[in-house]
Amino acid sequence: MSAVGRMPIIAANWKMHHDHLVAIQVVQKLSYRLEADDYAACDVVIAPPFTDLRTIQTLTESDNIPIALGAQNCHWKDDGAFTGEVSPPMLAKLNVSYVIVGHSERRQLFGETDEMVNAKVKAVFRHEMTPIVCVGETLDEREAGRTDERVDSQARAAFDGVKGPEALRCVVAYEPIWAIGTGRNATPEDANTTIASIRGVLRSLYGDTADQIRIQYGGSVKPGNIADLMAMPEIDGALVGGASLDPDDFARIVRYRV
Ligand code: PGA
Repeated sequence: MSAVGRMPIIAANWKMHHDHLVAIQVVQKLSYRLEADDYAACDVVIAPPFTDLRTIQTLTESDNIPIALGAQNCHWKDDGAFTGEVSPPMLAKLNVSYVIVGHSERRQLFGETDEMVNAKVKAVFRHEMTPIVCVGETLDEREAGRTDERVDSQARAAFDGVKGPEALRCVVAYEPIWAIGTGRNATPEDANTTIASIRGVLRSLYGDTADQIRIQYGGSVKPGNIADLMAMPEIDGALVGGASLDPDDFARIVRYRV
């Protein structure tokens, strides 16, 4: 728990890995490795591919495994002629609690704009789920000294028109693009500084409510670097890609305090 009472949140982003049969094994193994103390110390989330959601929901609910379900994306409309898309109410019906919105892979590979991210954030809130809003700079932007400017504009766009009580429930993930899947992570100090600057943006929008909003770091988080990241006062958790696929590694990340 941070000094002002923000509960850490560690989320697995499986991306396009693990079919629903593998998912059962991974979640079962993870549940054998995590104990009540671990769930009491941090919120644990798995965001699998859409095709795994129902399977994991059934498993966690029948075995009382307190892992929350996340989705990796959604459309902003409730229904309609949008071939290939999945809507927020469909996710809510599966007891999905979190939806990752604006991941850099969606922005870079699938053309997601700040406007789409904002529409998705609002749609997720409308269906009582929590968005995990991703922001982060490219290597060029970082080297040009434009990190703060980039995350500032992404955060302002994502939260445009979002009211304080909703923003309070939101999770932000600061994910420098150059650190994703590259094995190059930001130093804990650098990540802390940028996250403090994101919190500054949220403070300018929501006043002291910003102190309650959880901000994760993501980008090559591993069992070996999580404790140093989590020791930073502004870092409230992690969004973990590659290292979340293996239940042993992910359990070690969740148990960073042990
Ligand atoms: P990574 O991915 O941990 O594999 O760097 C993080 C993410 O993209 O959320």
